[in-house]
Amino acid sequence: MIMICRTKQQLREALENKRKQKPGLTTGFVPTMGYLHEGHASLIRRSVAECDLTVLSIFVNPLQFGPNEDFDRYPRDEQRDLALAEASGADIAFLPTVEEMYPTKPLTSITVDVVTDRLCGASRPGHFDGVGVVVSKLFNLVQPQRAYFGMKDAQQVAVIRRMTDDLDMPIKIVPCDIVREPDGLALSSRNVYLSAEERSQALVLSQSLAKAKSIGETAGKTVQGLIDEVSNHIRESQLADIDYVELLAYPNLTPLAPNQLLLETPGELLLAVAVKFGRTRLIDNRILSFSEVTIDV
Ligand code: PAJ
Repeated sequence: MIMICRTKQQLREALENKRKQKPGLTTGFVPTMGYLHEGHASLIRRSVAECDLTVLSIFVNPLQFGPNEDFDRYPRDEQRDLALAEASGADIAFLPTVEEMYPTKPLTSITVDVVTDRLCGASRPGHFDGVGVVVSKLFNLVQPQRAYFGMKDAQQVAVIRRMTDDLDMPIKIVPCDIVREPDGLALSSRNVYLSAEERSQALVLSQSLAKAKSIGETAGKTVQGLIDEVSNHIRESQLADIDYVELLAYPNLTPLAPNQLLLETPGELLLAVAVKFGRTRLIDNRILSFSEVTIDV
């Protein structure tokens, strides 16, 4: 049976008991905002496979939502979440209230510079500061050896990695592959907001990313050329309202020169898109590499 903790004290006691029973056990941690789907379940299963104890948190963190974002209407379904968490093998679920997590408004902030300059860091001001504070608090409460994050939020992985490195947090950050629907749509708690028409048009995200590799392998294609082609493909869907389409060096998320030839870019690149369908903002991305490609002449 999964153990449910609603207060920090309950969580500390549950962890202390487990660690007393089995000294030296490894703890894996999966932070989430709930409304769990197979993407979250894949992180839980990976932790279960690699660690002795798996702790899941479900907390919709107000600090990481902007004033006009969807904090109030963010989907919630505790019973379903707990059933999925248990079926995936989680040992402990931590479900604090906002008052429990933030009895007083934190005066401490965590800002990871540079890696937050672009993408969601630019279009959602303050978002990653809120993520930094809540993830630090959760890391301090759970004290895991390993923490599991999805590459669906590739910039979040980069931010958390940099934060743990900079602050000497002894936690290995484990990035996990994006889980998709059979038709390619990346799973997201926010997909539930989509109307049938928006849902079908949202496929343009994964489709345009899937085409990017072969587009980029065309001789003479530049960074800006690829961004333009992907953007144009997305714009063919009438309901798509592009927030950003960006190609950055990965993992440091630094910009590339627009006229740089893709076949001459070393290492890995992150192609990331954020697109609104009605009131719903979806993100997706793909890691690309063109440096290994040889072209026939
Ligand atoms: P949330 O959006 O609930 O996501 C929790 C974790 O699940 C994140 O690491 C996210 O990248 C991963 N995830 C979401 N969709 C996925 C998919 N389709 N495939 C694989 N992994 C996926 O990210 C957050 O919550 C919050 O910012 C949080 C880290 C919990 C801090 O509040």
